[in-house]
Amino acid sequence: MKSIASAPGKIILFGEHFVVHGTKAILAAINKRVTVTSAFTDNNTINVNSELGTLEVPILSSYEEAKSEFRPFIYLANKMINSNQNVNGLEITIDSDIPVGVGLGSSSACCVAAATSISGLFNELSSEEILKISIEAEKTIFPNTSGADCAVCTYGGMIEHPSIEKIDNTFDLNLLIANSMIPHNTKNSVEKVNKFKENDEDRFSQLCDLETKLIDKVIVAMKNNDATTFGLKMSENQKYLEEIQVSNDTLRDMISSLNEISLGSKITGAGDGGCIIALVEDENMDKVPALLGKDKECFSAKIDTKGVVWSVIEE
Ligand code: MEV
Repeated sequence: MKSIASAPGKIILFGEHFVVHGTKAILAAINKRVTVTSAFTDNNTINVNSELGTLEVPILSSYEEAKSEFRPFIYLANKMINSNQNVNGLEITIDSDIPVGVGLGSSSACCVAAATSISGLFNELSSEEILKISIEAEKTIFPNTSGADCAVCTYGGMIEHPSIEKIDNTFDLNLLIANSMIPHNTKNSVEKVNKFKENDEDRFSQLCDLETKLIDKVIVAMKNNDATTFGLKMSENQKYLEEIQVSNDTLRDMISSLNEISLGSKITGAGDGGCIIALVEDENMDKVPALLGKDKECFSAKIDTKGVVWSVIEE
């Protein structure tokens, strides 16, 4: 028997970093996916195969000793093996079309797809249970996660966090994603923001209030089919991200080079590299590559509505 699950990557439209400190965020799942296939073996090992490498460890060995990218899989495999008798080994294979380390939710999509695929060998879990164990798995690499990324990878569509309410976008969001090609580390960026907060609690708390008000206005703008306000709020959100110092010259240059054709643009995800998103009207999409330059990757994002999907092949 093979248990196969695939989960979408994500973008954060509004509220990254502030969401770690309790504010709301708006996220969307995108049409790039990771697929995890799990099967029982008789090897007394957990085997993980991915483009990032392969790993073989004895069952029930500690995840803490593995390289960080493998930890969620070992954590999840051990959790399932611990609560189910007569399991001698597991093989887990990961195929992904989500770029790694650029803020598009590669690690959370892996956690959600792996939680669904591995647990699916034993029994079918509810979405709430999948989300809970995928966040536990993500914490093995990133202990302070807000859980927002795993939530949108589980449920798909556009959601508000932490309520996980679905948001219907009434206007056609033409979102451009552009990759700075600078890899980043979410854990380090989140720690940097923690330091900013420690140094200036008052300003950080004002910024959290501003972010909350901004998101409330975005929700009204979406209900009113108001793409102009949506775009302006993206650029306003970028100012807050600049202030907490998760931007850099490359990201700023990318944002300003798109100014003439976008309604708004900002970092998406942890920042310090990774991707920006811009709201661009259809007729201007073909101008983007020339404005950004050849060394940047860019593509238009479609919103994924399905979230995690699961199937089984009996052999
Ligand atoms: C990372 O994609 C988003 C952050 O807000 C961290 C988190 O929400 O856990 C930076």
